[in-house]
Amino acid sequence: MKALKVANLTAGYGESEILRNVSVELNDAEIVSIIGPNGAGKSTLLKAVFGILRPRSGSVELYGEEITGLSPDRIVRRGISYVPQVDNVFPSLTVEENLEMGAYIRSDDSRPRLREVYDLLPVLQERNNEKVSRLSGGQRQMVAIGRALMLNPRVLLLDEPTASLAPILVEMVFEKILAINRSGVAIMLVEQNARETLKISHRGYVLAGGEKRFEDTGESLLKNDDVGRLYLGGEG
Ligand SMILES: Nc1ncnc2c1ncn2[C@@H]1O[C@H](COP(=O)(O)OP(=O)(O)O)[C@@H](O)[C@H]1O
Ligand SMILES: [Mg+2]
Repeated sequence: MKALKVANLTAGYGESEILRNVSVELNDAEIVSIIGPNGAGKSTLLKAVFGILRPRSGSVELYGEEITGLSPDRIVRRGISYVPQVDNVFPSLTVEENLEMGAYIRSDDSRPRLREVYDLLPVLQERNNEKVSRLSGGQRQMVAIGRALMLNPRVLLLDEPTASLAPILVEMVFEKILAINRSGVAIMLVEQNARETLKISHRGYVLAGGEKRFEDTGESLLKNDDVGRLYLGGEG
């Protein structure tokens, strides 16, 4: 079953066309990574999937239903949560308040889900009454991800969750991403830590200059000499 099917997507800003004819898929229960140089269009792809940016052509399907051109508000209700690269938390609110904000569209009791999110990300429970502005970068990323999980998404879009984190925290974030995936969430992951990302990904895509350049299993991309030389900084 395909969680997401992005077909021939073209999107951009104003006069400039950034993504050209990009097709990517995310299977149910998969972690799929999108890697590639700065400016490749990775964030643009996630924005177009989530409806922040209206695609110029092409289509996006979520579990077989077309969601192309829907607003983020509609898309979130269909079961996709998105964690942007920046400004993904409310620093002046506490951890728990941030999580509750994440559940804003729920009409039912969000407490049971809050407990599940705390079970998945115990650091959030430990710091639940702390203002997010007082947390480390790694903990803030956990808050952002926890907030996105409050709606029980079927699909999670993560934009560079490990950006500017120390290596030990990068590892911690990747472990949590794996745990979230094992809890049944399909994950599309945009990352600069490409080598590490491919190690935890079932499949990956290399995006460069707004176009798809390579697609394969994480393992095969890691072994691909061209991918290694061009996009993974040489020998691993
Ligand atoms: N809001 C925007 N308005 C105009 N151009 C943008 C905007 N956001 C990104 N771009 C441009 O789109 C291209 C791709 O950006 P982006 O998708 O953020 O790349 P990546 O996430 O791969 O680093 C870049 O050339 C960038 O300057
Ligand atoms: Mg980006």
